[in-house]
Amino acid sequence: MLHIENPEYYTITLTVNGKELEKSVPSHMRLLDLLRNELHFTGAKEVCSEGECGACTIFMDSKTVNSCLILAVEADKSEIITIEGFPKENSLTELQQEFIDHHSVQCGYCIPGMVLSGEQILKDHENPDRMEIKKELSGNICRCTGYHKIVDAIEHAGHK
Ligand code: FES
Ligand code: FES
Repeated sequence: MLHIENPEYYTITLTVNGKELEKSVPSHMRLLDLLRNELHFTGAKEVCSEGECGACTIFMDSKTVNSCLILAVEADKSEIITIEGFPKENSLTELQQEFIDHHSVQCGYCIPGMVLSGEQILKDHENPDRMEIKKELSGNICRCTGYHKIVDAIEHAGHK
């Protein structure tokens, strides 16, 4: 996290996982830091900090974004959903269940981002094929699984 002496502060209002919030944030604070350090939604992970790995993926106004690349002030008046808010009820989505059924998780560090990116793929493509899934997942890096089982899970969820 970047530290700046005497930063300017701005008041923002946003909805995070269904809850309306008002926060005073320094101008340089990233959305990822607001979520993790201030609001304690630690499902979004930090790895590269430069938009390359997808570990920090969240939904912002119904589209997946890399929260390490967005300033908290840019999230003013937006609706944010992290993996903690997905799904809203206390149950798994079909895709989350497919990740379990296909043993798609090893260390788990990339998985919140993979699941949210997978949900975006399922929103954007009806019955996505493996090539589409791999292309759309190109912004999400996994150091453990070799990707096959993650692609299996998304493909299977898309063919239900
Ligand atoms: S930490 Fe945001 S893309 Fe890697
Ligand atoms: S399961 Fe370990 S980084 Fe993907």
